[in-house]
Amino acid sequence: MSRSYPNTRLRRTRATTWSRAMVRETVLTPSDLIWPLFVTEGDGVEDPVGSLPGVSRWSVDGIAKRAKEAVDLGIPCIALFPNTQADKRSDDGAEAFNPDNLMCRAIKAVKDACGDDIGVLTDVALDPYTSHGQDGLVDDAGYVVNDDTVAVLVDQAINQAEAGADIIAPSDMMDGRVHAIRMALEMGNHHNVQIMAYAAKYASAFYGPFRDAVGSGGRLVGDKKTYQMDPANGDEALAEVALDIAEGADSVMVKPGLAYLDIIWRVKQRFEVPVYAYQVSGEYALIEAGAAAGVGDRDALLMEKLIGFKRAGCSGVLTYHAPRAVQILGG
Ligand code: PBG
Repeated sequence: MSRSYPNTRLRRTRATTWSRAMVRETVLTPSDLIWPLFVTEGDGVEDPVGSLPGVSRWSVDGIAKRAKEAVDLGIPCIALFPNTQADKRSDDGAEAFNPDNLMCRAIKAVKDACGDDIGVLTDVALDPYTSHGQDGLVDDAGYVVNDDTVAVLVDQAINQAEAGADIIAPSDMMDGRVHAIRMALEMGNHHNVQIMAYAAKYASAFYGPFRDAVGSGGRLVGDKKTYQMDPANGDEALAEVALDIAEGADSVMVKPGLAYLDIIWRVKQRFEVPVYAYQVSGEYALIEAGAAAGVGDRDALLMEKLIGFKRAGCSGVLTYHAPRAVQILGG
């Protein structure tokens, strides 16, 4: 019996660690990570988020410390989300443009502590400030009205920029908000404040733990399906991205991450802007719960998902696992 040999052995380059390193197509580095942090009132407060094991809400002083930690880890940017006190939430979310709100105090504390050693990304949407938990203003029928909401979001964005925010990230999914915010930033002399648009943000079941963390979940009346996207749609995501770029977005985000790698890929193939994935709270919680249930090694599960985002075309990933990922990378 004559022996036949394969012409090509793809296993050859996989045989050793050094060779695998040589042919590796995608790398993850600390500069690919954006670390979302939750802010709460008080001083010296660390308040663990029950549904996000290992994640806490920090008072402003703690946020400044986390930011310094991020600088030391080589993480280039943090994202801030406030848990607004109950008595400051209202139907119109007016606390969002109070120059002394929790968010602004946190932005200033980070900038005082770290200056331009780190970028501060701020979420624009009313849900941490409204009594009904919706991202915008609601009419009598409970519908989130578009244009009046945009006007308020502009005030919120300018308030954040005045406090020192570096990247404004509208997560509200109203039509036309990127243009309105860009114009207001220009007129306010904030020419270099960036906009990272939550361009393709889906009405997802994976946001639950985040809503616990900012305290909007229990309040939410109805759902967000009239403004966040239907998970069944892909072409529509490209339409959202095209509009946000035309309206002045510097970069775009796809959210959540793992169930939408095809969207990331399509956006990256079609457009010449940086694309980010938000590995959202439910994704974090699933990794932690899976590891706790013995599904696999937590760090290995985590790193496989993060490299997947890079391979799909992301310039970076928002992940609550950011500091852990840097440790795994050897930082
Ligand atoms: C607010 C906002 C949400 C998230 C980021 N910004 C929640 C929502 O739209 O209900 C979710 C992030 C996460 O789940 O980690 N507009």
